Amino acid sequence: MATTAIIVGAGNRGSTYAEFATFAPDKLKIVGVAEPIELLRNRMVKKYSIKKDMAWDTWEKMLDHERLAELAIITTQDRMHKEPAVKLAAKGYHILLEKPMAVMYEDCCEIVQAAKRNGVMFGVCHVLRYYPQYIRIRELIESGEIGEVHNIQHTEPVGFWHYAHSYVRGNWRKESKSSSSLLAKCCHDLDLINYWMGNKKCTNISSFGSLMHFTAANKPANAGLNCLSCPIEDTCAYSAKKIYLGRAKEGNFDWPVSVVTKTADIEDLTDALRNGQYGRCVYDCDNDVMSNQVVSMQFIGGATATLTMVAFTERICSRQTVISGSKGEITCDYYGPVKVYDFLSRKTTEYHAESGERIGGHNGADHHLMVTFIDAVRAKDQSRILAGPDETLYSHRLVFEAEKARLENRVVSMEE
Ligand SMILES: NC(=O)c1ccc[n+]([C@@H]2O[C@H](COP(=O)([O-])OP(=O)(O)OC[C@H]3O[C@@H](n4cnc5c(N)ncnc54)[C@H](O)[C@@H]3O)[C@@H](O)[C@H]2O)c1
Repeated sequence: MATTAIIVGAGNRGSTYAEFATFAPDKLKIVGVAEPIELLRNRMVKKYSIKKDMAWDTWEKMLDHERLAELAIITTQDRMHKEPAVKLAAKGYHILLEKPMAVMYEDCCEIVQAAKRNGVMFGVCHVLRYYPQYIRIRELIESGEIGEVHNIQHTEPVGFWHYAHSYVRGNWRKESKSSSSLLAKCCHDLDLINYWMGNKKCTNISSFGSLMHFTAANKPANAGLNCLSCPIEDTCAYSAKKIYLGRAKEGNFDWPVSVVTKTADIEDLTDALRNGQYGRCVYDCDNDVMSNQVVSMQFIGGATATLTMVAFTERICSRQTVISGSKGEITCDYYGPVKVYDFLSRKTTEYHAESGERIGGHNGADHHLMVTFIDAVRAKDQSRILAGPDETLYSHRLVFEAEKARLENRVVSMEE
């Protein structure tokens, strides 16, 4: 029998995870949906043949009933994670929760306590933990292949237009409305660094960041308020015409166009750009999150790590990693092989990713998350979930402490 699930928030991420039910109907069945946007709700009702009385405009209405499925997949926006996670865990639903768990550490703790108190299985969508190449890195480190790890350098290149889309014009542009960009974008990356460091816990952390470019002071003379009427639009790399209309005119209405308009229609898109947030001049938005940030960390025994998040890259989230050990070095370019250079033999071994049919994004990581999570729920084995309550709480804490270090301009000790 397939595990039954209700999607809480049928937006971009909710639809991606639900897709697994189409790919593996023997493993997952979507039996309910809570989503205020009618079009999205109806789309899911139709696609998964959801019964009328199992579709609600808000997750709160699920609380009127006893548990209606085994699993709740919570994919609402950042500031709307805690309430459904805590209350649906209390109803007995196993919880798969989008990252970040919550935007305050205390709320993350509350979520974890609720999952444990109610004895439900719990996982956070740290999809990169399930990325086979990143699991291989952990295995190589654990097997002693590169000796003792001394340093990790990890870069998250956000991508120039992706940053403009999500962090200047979009849902994650303003900390008070969502979260810091370090939490929104790089809770994955600090989680990975922590995962690769294994038992070595972080002792000290510092961080610097800035928002230098997407500010009113950098607005070119003569630039308009909206790209569709801007007289110098063709000179701007961040023009909404290029990011959205260009794609749509080629027939591509997938992300990021799908975020601007839910219908695959050029007129709707043009209207949304003219009147909505995604057509705004990038120098005239109410954004305040960092566009570049570095985090440096020291671990028990002296190992160090740095994370760099930067907006201004050609690459879109294709992370680059170098891990230096006493016997060798691991390098990994997100889409490429994991390479291990051995200092003794002076030879490089390459480990290539397996390919195959799969759903979703993140180069297959979304798919592997679903496979692992659903198998863990079916086996009632929390230990199979790679991003479970304790590890995720700890790596979220690293983000909150890094932000504290940046804001207070000091080194934060994890023992504080
Ligand atoms: N794991 C990853 O790599 C990854 C990638 C992108 C986004 N995210 C995270 O996923 C989450 C969702 O992001 P998204 O891009 O899918 O956002 P989205 O806006 O597309 O989807 C959120 C949905 O929640 C719905 N919603 C609002 N109130 C609700 C309520 N009361 N009950 C039920 N649904 C409600 C909204 O209408 C919307 O459709 C965010 O927290 C985001 O940070 C994670």
